[in-house]
Amino acid sequence: MFRSLAVFSLLTITACTAGMIDPPKKSGAQLFDKHCTSCHGRTAQGDGPRASSFAIPPSNLTMIAQRNGGTFPTADVMAQINGYSGRHQMGGMPEFEEVIQSPIVEWTSPMGEVIPTPQALLALATYLESIQE
Ligand code: HEC
Repeated sequence: MFRSLAVFSLLTITACTAGMIDPPKKSGAQLFDKHCTSCHGRTAQGDGPRASSFAIPPSNLTMIAQRNGGTFPTADVMAQINGYSGRHQMGGMPEFEEVIQSPIVEWTSPMGEVIPTPQALLALATYLESIQE
């Protein structure tokens, strides 16, 4: 419960600070290509050109659902991209606060909460969900 509340307030804070400018909508695939492939690789399997420089290697992002018992944890993934510090403080995964600055859209969580979420962050998570094995 605490964890989902933390994610909730994190996304809410982001929602309040984002959205000053109205950049054109970018698709999750475009965002991924530009900002994520250097470490996670073009196929998202964790084999980008910079991958070998990390003590904790970039995750294989096509296996997130499998690692999570078959369910894609959208909120956790968005929190990870956004920079929720609980999980990856020791890892090399950067925070992408600026990349995800975008118009706010409403995302309905599996628990039925409507959470204002930056469009780019949701697009990235939706893209990752679409490439799960
Ligand atoms: C500078 C290298 C680097 C870049 C660029 C990068 N990542 Fe990562 N990422 C990592 C590393 C290293 C890990 C594993 C260790 C950790 O969690 O910090 C990771 C972990 C993750 C996880 C957690 C996976 C899991 O199994 O829970 C997600 C989700 C993720 N990255 C998404 C992204 C997305 C989306 C982008 C682009 C916006 C991105 N990453 C860009 C290095 C990077």
